[in-house]
Amino acid sequence: MLYSEKVMDHFKNPRNVGVIEDADGIGEVGNAKCGDIMKIYLKIDNDIITDIKFETFGCGSAIASSSMATELIKGKPVKDALKLTNKAVAEALDGLPPHKMHCSVLAEEAISSAIKDYYDKNNIPYTDDTFKSLAHSHEEE
Ligand code: FES
Repeated sequence: MLYSEKVMDHFKNPRNVGVIEDADGIGEVGNAKCGDIMKIYLKIDNDIITDIKFETFGCGSAIASSSMATELIKGKPVKDALKLTNKAVAEALDGLPPHKMHCSVLAEEAISSAIKDYYDKNNIPYTDDTFKSLAHSHEEE
């Protein structure tokens, strides 16, 4: 089968879909090639991600990736969320087909971008390295 059961489950019943009106950080990223867009909303309290929601206008793998990614970092410290890689998201989904790996990259980038927004809004210092995933090209397969 092309897609794992977990991918199908998160695609059909995505967790944490929606908007957080008073979000502490919002990140939006897109993939120029396929045109898919992902938006992540974070609620952060004492450095812990207390709530997270997403809106994804994209393919099934992008929806499954955002759903899984939100589950993986909900309730976790911001620093842990920053370490979340697209590979970890894909592994948690029991894998994605190679030509769909870029969909999980969107999830990693959207989360990074939302955390960057939170850091910027709160004048929390960071280095270029902190958000190096955002500087990636979108060529990761
Ligand atoms: Fe582009 Fe899935 S095809 S995010």
